[in-house]
Amino acid sequence: MRVLVTGGNGYIGSHTSLALIEAGHDVVIADSFINSKRTVLPRLEAIAGRSIPLHDIDLTDAAATDRLFADGNFDAVIHFAGLKAVGESVQKPIEYYRNNIDSTLSVVEAMKKHGVGKFVFSSSATVYGEKAPVPYREDFEYLQSSNPYGQTKVMIERILTDTAAAASAATTDDETTPEWRIALLRYFNPVGSHPSGTIGEDPQGIPNNLMPYLSQVAVGRRDHLTIFGNDYPTPDGTCQRDYIHVMDLAAGHVAALNHLDKQTDPVRAYNLGTGNGTSVLELVAAFSQAVGHDLPYQFGARRAGDIAANWADPTRANTELGWQATHTIEQMCEDTWRWQSANPTGFPDA
Ligand code: UD1
Repeated sequence: MRVLVTGGNGYIGSHTSLALIEAGHDVVIADSFINSKRTVLPRLEAIAGRSIPLHDIDLTDAAATDRLFADGNFDAVIHFAGLKAVGESVQKPIEYYRNNIDSTLSVVEAMKKHGVGKFVFSSSATVYGEKAPVPYREDFEYLQSSNPYGQTKVMIERILTDTAAAASAATTDDETTPEWRIALLRYFNPVGSHPSGTIGEDPQGIPNNLMPYLSQVAVGRRDHLTIFGNDYPTPDGTCQRDYIHVMDLAAGHVAALNHLDKQTDPVRAYNLGTGNGTSVLELVAAFSQAVGHDLPYQFGARRAGDIAANWADPTRANTELGWQATHTIEQMCEDTWRWQSANPTGFPDA
């Protein structure tokens, strides 16, 4: 298939673009570079052994998005583009709603106009909200999130569901309205890097998430890790999360895309997680092992909005997509460290 990958220059988008190419798909990337460096693409091309077309485009620009589709001849879209920092979204809700919702509307509108119905959406376990019982299952009622970033994921899932429902019910002679097949992929905690160590996660500024923070401590860019709370009702008092290797996540997108033709529901949600919880202290121990020495940490106060534990029930993705996460926590740490140690300051500036 000829696949448009929005945000394909970013962390998960870049790894997924490679997995798509390896699976025989034709990839076209759209990216605005607001959260990624231009030096990612040449490295992707080096791994892929071929050039990858990339459009420098802001998808909130509906006219430009329409032009992209008019010339694109796409069979499917995987939509990663969007702002993703939880804390920042609380400070800048308008930017988050404007960017994430507008860009998705531009893309979906262009897909409808140009008859492209296959869509894979980059959603998040954050849609389950704070009160859902663990493990999370796709059939839970959710429709809420504690922060604007998460709320954009909830809203976009809703927009896609309504769009597909309207098309199924339509008796219109609107010839371009496609038969929608949409997969909502709810990620747990993506970590790790491509085994080459040449691409990986490169957050701008101070990392919000545990793994990039820890790897910057390991490489000497940060003094120590602060563990947010050690009085949670978990075995060691620190929070448990379902960390998933980005290569497994990328493979999950390929599996979901290839399954769209067989997907009976127009819209279907899938959890992409391992099904296992790992505590912050366990992750610190595994990462220290990968690095070869202990890493400095201190216990601090709980972070607002954190919940004690969550992990996926990935049964649906396992059975329907024939996909399952295979990488261990040790591999996640080793691959992250290979990338970070070879690229202490991330991707070079253009
Ligand atoms: C966070 C977001 C989630 C988003 C996901 C993207 C919040 C509340 N949730 O998930 O919506 O989809 O990132 O990857 O922000 N930790 C520390 N010290 C640190 C950083 C993190 O102890 O410096 C702890 C956290 O308290 C948490 C665990 O590490 O227990 C994982 O944190 P993080 O990597 O930020 O992921 P989530 O909070 O699970």
